[in-house]
Parts: sequence; structure tokens; C-alpha cells
Amino acid sequence: MKEEIMSTIRTEQLGDVLLIEINNPPINAGSLTVRQGLTAAIQQLQAQPDLRAGVIIGGGTTFVAGSDLREFGQPLQDPQLPTVLAQIETCSKPIVAALHGAALGGGLELALACDARIALAGTLMGLPEVTLGIIPGAGGTQRLPRRVGVSRAILMICSGERIKADKALALRLVDEVVSADLQTHAIALAQRLAGRKCRIRDEQVPTEDAAVIEQAEQAALRAGKRRPAVLAAIAAVKNAALLPVDESLAQERAVFQQLRVSTEAFALRHQFFAEREATKLPSTLSAAPRPLQTVAIIGAGTMGAGIAICALDAGLAVILLEQDSAALQRGQQRVTDHYQGRVSAGKMKASLAAANEARLVPTTDWAQLSRADLVIEAVFEELAVKQEVFKKIDQYARAGAVLATNTSYLDVDAIANATARPQDVLGLHFFSPANVMKLLEVVRGARTSLDVLATGMDLGKKLKKLPVLTGNAFGFIGNRIYNAYRRQCEFMLEDGAWPEDVDSALQGFGFAMGPFAVADLTGLDIAWRMRKSQAASRDPRERYVSILDQLCELGRLGRKTDAGYYTYVDGKKSKATDAVVRNIIEHASQQRGLTRQALSAAQIQRRAMLAMVNEAALLLQEGIASRASDIDVVLVQGYGFPRWEGGPVFWARQQERSALEHDLQVLAAESGHGFVVADLSVLLN
Ligand code: NAI
Repeated sequence: MKEEIMSTIRTEQLGDVLLIEINNPPINAGSLTVRQGLTAAIQQLQAQPDLRAGVIIGGGTTFVAGSDLREFGQPLQDPQLPTVLAQIETCSKPIVAALHGAALGGGLELALACDARIALAGTLMGLPEVTLGIIPGAGGTQRLPRRVGVSRAILMICSGERIKADKALALRLVDEVVSADLQTHAIALAQRLAGRKCRIRDEQVPTEDAAVIEQAEQAALRAGKRRPAVLAAIAAVKNAALLPVDESLAQERAVFQQLRVSTEAFALRHQFFAEREATKLPSTLSAAPRPLQTVAIIGAGTMGAGIAICALDAGLAVILLEQDSAALQRGQQRVTDHYQGRVSAGKMKASLAAANEARLVPTTDWAQLSRADLVIEAVFEELAVKQEVFKKIDQYARAGAVLATNTSYLDVDAIANATARPQDVLGLHFFSPANVMKLLEVVRGARTSLDVLATGMDLGKKLKKLPVLTGNAFGFIGNRIYNAYRRQCEFMLEDGAWPEDVDSALQGFGFAMGPFAVADLTGLDIAWRMRKSQAASRDPRERYVSILDQLCELGRLGRKTDAGYYTYVDGKKSKATDAVVRNIIEHASQQRGLTRQALSAAQIQRRAMLAMVNEAALLLQEGIASRASDIDVVLVQGYGFPRWEGGPVFWARQQERSALEHDLQVLAAESGHGFVVADLSVLLN
């Protein structure tokens, strides 16, 4: 007998068991109709005397892999999830959760409210709410510790960790794991329960050493940067061992309701949706990608080797080409070292590492390029060198191959025009380390054809990256905004701040590192070289801060020379800058006729943010960025911008508009000649 309750829930009576199937593709997200349907199905199970048990299962490829996040920003409609879960628990007949695909967030909470859980091998389970600025709000913080213990629950909830079914079985999170026939096994399990209710809420929290819990708490606080959701999650989990369950469930819900409408939760949801949006090309640019199986990478340095690794990991065949055998040997060694490291750390099976490495063809023979569907150039950052290389690529690559440059700043058109096929050329700007960083800027040149652009986006997805479309302008989206930010920070040095003031203010804002510590880490000489190459075309009226150049002239290139803005002893950064640096800075202030005035952390943060926001608006005005939200993805994913602030555009939208516009005028005056004030309406409206 089959009966439709709601379009998202299908019920079917199978003997004395009611099968309750959730059908809300693509991920069976928990939503109002799902909750309504579940309520009706549970009522049916309770009411029908010939039914003895229920099984909740996901239709399609997964159990409930999360909740409909859009609901979280609005007033929640009844029935809310805790009510549905209470109905499961008070139903006199046992209900089994049958898990496959993923049981995440509200999905795992649903499973934990059932009387037993059975999972298909490989099913992923986790409570990722904290990564979205909230805490599990339907008993996750109470039922999970009753099974896995407080310390493990703190670590799992605060990190949003996903575990696989076998681990979940070892932790008693699931009761059974099967390799096939999930539904049949789930029904058998429901029948074996023989009418017995087994509610996790009634179980005792396992006793643990206070020191073990303290250790987990400290680790979670460190990793989670003491964000509000992390603090709240720890408190909620600890409540499980302290309070009567109804009281702690009510407290959890109250905190969840508060957090879900916090600015931080809105920022994290904004970033979540922005990332999904970014990977899609605007409809006017969409085209079918060209087929992609073999990638040739030219230059096996830091970036080339990293790109090779992620292409190998994605199952592609890789030709790695260098200018001589010594450089090739070094590049190949980088790849080998990487895989050896993964295997010895237990993060990759030796057989998989070997299979990946076996698809690598290191070579110095340009004729090999003819086999490639895509060629990615990652040689030195010099236009003439890159143009030479592209001439050669043009000679050897097959017709129809996609040709890409990994340049950070250079003009993609000037590179494309070195070939007779600029329509096949685009920029693929990877970030370092290329096998770790998810961001990939896909740069559209003036003549890049749409299927070439689509191939770039497609490659990004194949490599499990976040490809973001950008136009061809100096520094594309990311480096251009970062340059505007760093430049403003240099102005602040002349105006009266020390590098450590700026760095600590911006770290206080949430950046992983301040700009001067970053500059020391990456090497000041990179910027120095670029500045020299731009010197001839620089407008002499422009406010130009020469502090970095002077440091480089003294051989202070950053960490690699044990001195830059800071000094380094055994690789450890000094807290403050030394007298040499301070003298250079003071002299720079004098030269500009400025009386140094200390800047507060709030002033530093605001100036830095305004500089970013202004540049973001310019990029939108110029059409270099096609969506405002793409800019937020680039800054968060590639530049250590705090995710919980949502990105510069999200940040700007939280400010009072007239104050923002006023402060931008002040910033323009402080920044001097050449500072272009953007029309903020492009990103605020
Ligand atoms: P690198 O100096 O580590 O490696 C460059 C490699 O290219 C060297 O191994 C060199 O032997 C090889 N090479 C030079 N000329 C060649 C030629 N004619 N034929 C074949 N191989 C040649 O440089 P890195 O850092 O890997 O940078 C490469 C490119 O990636 C640059 O355009 C850079 O701007 C860009 N990039 C670098 C990032 C970084 O953080 N290092 C981040 C994003 C992009």
C-alpha cells in the first residue's frame, strides 16, 4: 500500500513497518514541507494499529545532508525540527534512521532522535552548524555527547568535522553499518527492536576526566578562534552532563535562535551562497567546455609542481615540462616528496599515491605538448619570458588545445597575442600552495572564446577548487584589491603607525596575518621588482611610499634574509620593528611633511577596509568582477579575509551608507593624488 503525504515525503507500508522516504532533491535538505511530511508520517505510524515500527530513509543519493539555509535568516515556521524530533521520541513505536550519502546538520540530529541508526558504508556524518555561525539547534549538542562523550562532541561540533560510517560505528553514533541493501537491513533492524523504544535522550553522558574535557575545549577554542558559535557550542555540550535534558535542550534552542539571526551567521551564510554562485558562469557567457584529460604544465617551480599535484589528484594525466633536466629533477622531486609525505602521514594510500604519480610525465621535450588538451604556463613572472614561452607553445600545442597562463599580475592579452590563437588563451591564476588553496581566478582575455572560458571553470571544478571569473586587469580581482589595501597600510606608516600597529589591528579584525608580516613571509623583493618595472609609467604626483624599497636596498627582503619589516631569530618574528625600520619610516614621514600621529586600531581597520571596498566598487564599475559576491569569495578564499565578516562587500553593506561615503572622501584626501573614488552604489544597491 502506497500513500503520498506531502510531495517531499513518501510513505509505504511494508508488512508491519512504515517506510518514510524523504524526497527533497538534490540533498534532501530539511525544510518546512519535509518537517510537515514527517509529522504526518509519524502520526500515521502511531495511529495505525497494524504498524509496529518505522524507518526513515532518504530517497535518491543521500539522507538529509543539511537544512535549507535560507530559512535560517527568516522567522522559522512550525513545525520546527525539535517538535518533529520530540514526536519521534514520544511515538510509542520505534523508528530507525537508515543513512546513506550524508547525514549532516539537521539530518544527523534527526537520526540521533530515532531509536536506532543503520548506515551504508561510506556515509558521511557531521554537525557543521558552527562553521555557519550557529550551533546545532535540534538536540545535536545534547544527544551527540550521550553517545560519543563530551570531549569528542566538543571537537566534532566545533570543527564541523565529518566522519565516515565506520568511524561513527566505533564511536557508537550508529548501531550498524552495512555494505548494501540498506532498506532491507533497516526494516529487519526495525523488526528486531520488537516495539522497544531506545531514546538517546534517556542515556547517561559517559563520564570523562575533567582534564580530557578541558584539553578538548582549549583545542576547539584555538582552532575556532573563539568565535561566538564555538563558545556557545562548548557551553551547550557541557550542559549535557550538568542539566536535566529538557532544560539543556531548551537552552540549546534559545542560543540557536539568537545566533541564527546574528550578523556573523548572516555573513557566513552569505559566503556559503556566494561560493556556490561564483562557480557558475553568467548565462550570457555559458558554453560547453572542451574535453579535458591531459594537462601540460610548463615550469615545475613552486606553482607548477603544486598545479601538477592537484591535476594528478583529480585523475588527469600530467606532462610536466622544464627548461633543463636539473630544474625538471627538482620539480619532479617536489611532487614525489608531496606524495611520500601524504602516505607517511597516513593521509593517502600508497597505492593511490603510486597511481597518481604514474600519470606524471616529466619532460624537457616540447614535442610532448601535442598530446595536451590544456597547457598551463607557470614560468617566471616576466612578460618577455612568458611571451617567448607562448610562442613556443603555439608551435607545439595541437589545434584546439586550451592555453593558460598562471600569471599573477601580467596582461593576459599581451601574452595571448604572442600566439596566433588568442581565442584559445585565458588566465588560470592559482594561489600558493596550489594543491591546498581552493581559489582559482579564471581570467577572460579580450579575445578568449566562451568554450575556453567554460573549460577553465570546468577545470576548477574538476580540481575541486572554487573557480571565480575575472576580467583582465592588473592583479585581476584579488591582487588588485590586496594592492589597494597594502598601499593604504603603507600610507598609514607614513601618517604615524608602526608596522606592528597595523598588523595587530588587522589581525584583531580577523585577518590571519597583518599585511607587513605577510610581506615579510612572501618576500619583499617580489613587490620591489614590480615597483621597479612600473617606475617609468608612475605619475610623479602620486603618493608613493618608498619604505619597502629602502628595506630591500638594505638587503632586508623578509623572512628569507632574517629581516624585513621585522627581524627574525631562528625563524621567530620580533614583536616590534627595530630602530633601522623606525628610522626609515620616520624619515619618510618627514620627507612628506607629515607630523606623525598615532592611529587607533579602529582607525587602521576602517582605513584598510575602506580601501578594499573602494577598489571592489571600481572593479565592479569596470566590469572586471561580474558579481559583487565574487569579490567576497576571492578575498575570503585567497587572502585570509575573515570568513565571519563575509568579505569586503558584505562588510560595506553592514555600514551606515552616509558615514561610509563621507569616510571614503576623507580617505581620498589622505591618500593624495591618483586615488579614484568609486561610486559605492554598484555594491551597496
Ligand atoms: P618559480 O620560480 O618557483 O618557478 C618557475 C619555474 O619555471 C622554474 O622552475 C623555471 O625553471 C621554470 N621556467 C622558467 N622559464 C622556463 C621556460 N622557458 N621553459 C620551461 N620552464 C621554465 O616560480 P613560481 O613561484 O612557481 O611562479 C610561477 C608563476 O606563477 C609566476 O607567473 C607567478 O607570478 C605565478 N604565481 C606565483 C604564486 C606564488 O605564490 N609563488 C602565486 C600565484 C601565481
